[in-house]
This record gives sequence, structure tokens and C-alpha cells, in this order.
Amino acid sequence: MRADYQRLAKTIRALTENENDEIALMATVCCELHHSDDRFDWTGFYRVVAPDLLKIGPYQGGHGCLQIPFSRGVCGAAARSGTVQLVADVEDFPGHIACASSTRSEVVLPVWNRAGDLIAVLDIDSDQPAAFSQQDAEQLAAILTQVFGGAGPT
Ligand code: SME
Repeated sequence: MRADYQRLAKTIRALTENENDEIALMATVCCELHHSDDRFDWTGFYRVVAPDLLKIGPYQGGHGCLQIPFSRGVCGAAARSGTVQLVADVEDFPGHIACASSTRSEVVLPVWNRAGDLIAVLDIDSDQPAAFSQQDAEQLAAILTQVFGGAGPT
């Protein structure tokens, strides 16, 4: 099953209408995303809790590591650079943090609020190699902008 991003965006909009609590929004987004696509084996948020530090937020899938400094991993790279990380083969990513040995590819997107602050990253891992495309990244980013309000730093 592959995500129908248009349908997902409509469903998430309906579920999150008038909701401002970030944790509630993250929990809803990762639940809907995770169950929409067979490629998504781990779906979750890492929240910015201090300068240069991420902590796990709502997620679906096996346990994830609790803290990630901006200096480490694919999530740290997304937070540090403020750019999408599209990783076709995690073995090729220096410093990749393997929360599951089955992970083969990954996409991580920065999450911005309406003020243009980085509030989290969205991490999706797949046990399939090269599972994610630029189109996936663009569609996922559009949903994040719809829900959290920001398209980037101000
Ligand atoms: N792979 C991520 C770490 C998060 S666990 O995969 C859920 C990284 O390298 O930052």
C-alpha cells in the first residue's frame, strides 16, 4: 500500500482542525502517516528541547533512541542544516544512528512553526532500500506545513 498524500492531507486536516497542541498534532500525524504506507516501518518526531538537542516525541514502530544531539545522525543533520535528508542507503550515511538493524533507507524533514522556529524533525525509516523519493519528501513537507504552519526559517 502506498500513501495517497492528497487523501492523507485531507484526513489530517479534519483530525487536527482547531488543535494547537504540538504533541497532539505530532501524535496524529505520525499515526496517520505510519498506517498509510507499507514502506514506513518507523515514523516519528524528534523534538527540539534545547539548542542542538533533539528528544523523542510521538512515534509509531519499535523503540527509538531517546536523545539525539544536532551533531549526530540523520536527524541531527536535518536539524543542524534545516534541510530534508533523503537517504537511499543508511550504510552510506556517516554517523547514521541505527535504532533498528533492519533499517535500509530513511527520510528526515525539519518541522517549522508559524514563527519560523525549528520545533522538531520528522523521521521515517524503511526496511526497503531507496524507499523514498523527492516527491515523497515534497508531499510530506506540504503536510508538515499544513499542520505546523511553517515552511522554513524566517
Ligand atoms: N536513524 C536516525 C535515528 C532515529 S532512529 O532511527 C528512530 C538518525 O540517524 O538520526
